[in-house]
Amino acid sequence: MVHNYRRGLLAALGLVLFYIFVVPQLYRFRFRLDLSLYDLGFYGLSPSRSYVSTSLTSPLLEFVRWDARCDPGFVFLTPRGFSVDKPSLNIFDAQGELAWKDESWGEAQDFKVQQYRGENYLTFWAGVELDIHGNGSWYMLNSFYQPSYNISPVGEGLVGDLHEFHITSNDTALVTIYDPIPSDLTSLGGSSSGWVYDALFQEIDIETGKLLFEWRASQHYPVESTFLALDGHGDKSKPFDAFHINSVDKDLWGNYLVSMRHTHTISSIKGETGEVLWTLGGRLNEFSDVSNSGSTDFSWQHDARWLGNDTISILNNAAHEFDSPAPYSNGMVIQLDIHAREATLLVSYCESQEVLATSQGNMRVLENGNVFIGWGHSAAFTEFTADGEILCDVHFGASAYFSLGRIVSYRAFKGYWVGTPLTEPSAVVTDDGIYVSWNGATEVSEWQLEAFEQPSDESLVLESVPKTGFETRIDVPENTKYPFFRIVALDSDGTALGQTPVMQTQAQGSDDSSSVKLWILITTALFGCVLYVIWLSRKL
Ligand SMILES: *[C@@H]1O[C@H](CO)[C@@H](O)[C@H](O)[C@H]1NC(C)=O
Ligand SMILES: *[C@@H]1O[C@H](CO)[C@@H](O)[C@H](O)[C@H]1NC(C)=O
Repeated sequence: MVHNYRRGLLAALGLVLFYIFVVPQLYRFRFRLDLSLYDLGFYGLSPSRSYVSTSLTSPLLEFVRWDARCDPGFVFLTPRGFSVDKPSLNIFDAQGELAWKDESWGEAQDFKVQQYRGENYLTFWAGVELDIHGNGSWYMLNSFYQPSYNISPVGEGLVGDLHEFHITSNDTALVTIYDPIPSDLTSLGGSSSGWVYDALFQEIDIETGKLLFEWRASQHYPVESTFLALDGHGDKSKPFDAFHINSVDKDLWGNYLVSMRHTHTISSIKGETGEVLWTLGGRLNEFSDVSNSGSTDFSWQHDARWLGNDTISILNNAAHEFDSPAPYSNGMVIQLDIHAREATLLVSYCESQEVLATSQGNMRVLENGNVFIGWGHSAAFTEFTADGEILCDVHFGASAYFSLGRIVSYRAFKGYWVGTPLTEPSAVVTDDGIYVSWNGATEVSEWQLEAFEQPSDESLVLESVPKTGFETRIDVPENTKYPFFRIVALDSDGTALGQTPVMQTQAQGSDDSSSVKLWILITTALFGCVLYVIWLSRKL
């Protein structure tokens, strides 16, 4: 009896301890019953894959959901974090296969395709990440992956920030800048001679690099509009990040749409004067939330974009390292009646495992009307129908450990891209066949194996195999008598796009022939010896 009582007590104590110590960890790590081995971390916290024909590696993607209605375009990611060897620019196809990777830019972010003067460019920020912003500049690569433009902020001592590089429909660049300035922080319990990061955006002429417009948050927003706690910041060595600008868009009327994460605000800024026309959200909110839809209580948000004349989209993170007002993040489409100062939440988009993006992230409406969200600090991106149905949900890290941020991408995009690299395809011969890949060549649909008797001879087409992903394996035809080969990349019309250098099928061919030669040599020598011995014995 006493025994049972004690056992019950121990079990109860165990349960209490489990509840106190284990459950919060399970919650923090977001274990769920429906997680795959990938999401549970069986392949590592940020699984990656390697290739035979190149030393590049790439994140292994996990499709949690897939639907044929997903846009067929490419996905643009900049994976970085403790589990990532080197930050890099990455393009994946819609099936999750690597299409291009470049590690040569160091830390690069906000990687996407944008149009400039009717041409598509790969655009991004590259530089050094400081505590909460960047010191770098903005780059544009043409379809050969060559740098075409490099844009820098205009002004003494200003450094280019990583959060935004947006090319407007007038072919100008909108960029963000964090500039430390003196500020009175007594209203926040800080010093009267404190320091804040002012939040700037500039509009720059891409061709000439000339400044067209500049706006500073500090001239329009009081530091008390922030939701961030000083937390030891606010002197010159550690300026306080009161505003944290993270997106700028421009409307048809020349006004700017600005998102500032730490004030929880989306504002319209009048072109030319910089005056604040209106503010949605935060302490300075001017809008009423029609039918309690939740349109004005977003927090720590990213990426405010105009969708039409009266609707905007944002990624509502609803989370910061130390503050999670909601259990998960969501994309929002909000309709505004600017005249009446009324806002209505039209659609909300959340990830299939309800991820929480404690930082970073973005939301874009694709050309086909689908919605694409990058979950920033959580290594996932999701594509939805316009009305919020999840179509494709893809992870590039194990979701149970998203809170650790081992692999993250500031933003994620989907779009169209035609890349024609100036490099050659690369191939490696192994016992198992020939492996071929061509980093960045988006138009290859088939690989054609051509053989030669001599490198200078006419080639003979042995076979064509469809491209099966970033890397394709080609069987070496048995008993081929040709010692030389090359692989030609063909597009869907059968036009040759490029080829490997002429290579030797050394793995099988030369090994075989040399061993045959050796056998001939040995048998000839033995035969010779036998003849000699016979001849000798006859003589004696
Ligand atoms: C930004 O980088 C440049 C060049 O690397 C360096 O000279 C400058 O001091 C840096 N500025 C800041 C604010 O870190
Ligand atoms: C948006 O406003 C512009 C300029 O007034 C107008 O031409 C256009 O038709 C409007 N678009 C929509 C979808 O209402």
